[in-house]
Amino acid sequence: ENDEINVCVTGAAGQIGYAFLPLLLTGQCFGDKKINLRLLDVPQAESILQGVELELQDGAYPLLKSIKTGSNESILFQDVDVAVFIGGFPRKPGMERKDLLTINGNIFKKQGQALDTVAKKTCKSLVVANPANTNCLILAETAKSIPKQNFSALTRLDHNRAISQIALKAGCSITDVKNVIIWGNHSTTQYPDVNHGTVLGKRIRQFINDEAYLNNAFIERVQKRGGEVLAARKNSSVMSAANAVKDHLHDWYFGTKSGEFVSMAVYSDGSYGVPKGLIFSYPVTCSNFNYKIVQGLNIDEFSKEKIRITTEELLSEKADAFSA
Ligand code: NAI
Repeated sequence: ENDEINVCVTGAAGQIGYAFLPLLLTGQCFGDKKINLRLLDVPQAESILQGVELELQDGAYPLLKSIKTGSNESILFQDVDVAVFIGGFPRKPGMERKDLLTINGNIFKKQGQALDTVAKKTCKSLVVANPANTNCLILAETAKSIPKQNFSALTRLDHNRAISQIALKAGCSITDVKNVIIWGNHSTTQYPDVNHGTVLGKRIRQFINDEAYLNNAFIERVQKRGGEVLAARKNSSVMSAANAVKDHLHDWYFGTKSGEFVSMAVYSDGSYGVPKGLIFSYPVTCSNFNYKIVQGLNIDEFSKEKIRITTEELLSEKADAFSA
């Protein structure tokens, strides 16, 4: 029905799932649509999922129409409109990147096959689980009957971190900062770019007037913010990640504000010289649950080099993931 939306969240027994579900169920992603919620996790987490379900009942959310939980994607992806992929295998100490890519690649192949078979062809996917861009690429390449335009990976947390750092530095509020960009991979090679952004309508570089800061400390702080949170909290970014998932879905669904863009990792179409067939974070505008990559931005040499570095990393992740 039109006033309902079928949403599946994977890794729903985990931390980000726990922080995200209340945002989803209070209408912060899809407004007042009633939600048929499906929660997927591994079989070992089934009792935790049941506990989450108990708490969701106790939340007495008026928007929660129905809940299904389990570990079978072919059941839980049935007719989904939106799938949020938070579940994945975490990097363990001493694990090679290639092993991480292979293990998660297999998870995303399996889930991609199920999505391809049972989800609606209009289903929109957001991948959060790391390595998010490459997991998303495997998902999109496996679920071939669903348009590539329907797949995205989360770089909104990085985007929000960048906005917040600029607002702090400028001594202004978050809403005064517009149009920062995260290019590339959700990893430490990402390029947080302020060249097209404004503070209170003025160019960020003019307003802040500190090239050394913007070209070095700012970029590094955003790139390594996950590590900074981990060291301080002795746990990963969970609350802010869940908040970014909410922002990403909200803006994709309801649209971005006029004259503003946000960052989403999406299937590259060759824009800005990035090879086709990578999941690459770009500036995008959205309306009606569709996005468009912002075109025609002037990219200087400094930015070209940063974009090249993160592109190289994504190409090598892709090569590793697809060689398995
Ligand atoms: P977590 O470990 O608390 O939860 C992950 C959940 O996924 C667990 O319940 C686990 O059982 C489940 N899972 C594992 N394999 C699964 C499978 N095949 N199918 C369904 N569920 C499966 O981790 P947390 O903190 O919730 O983080 C989740 C993911 O999000 C991690 O990969 C993390 O690296 C990533 N992340 C991404 C961010 C981004 O900006 N893109 C930001 C922060 C975290």
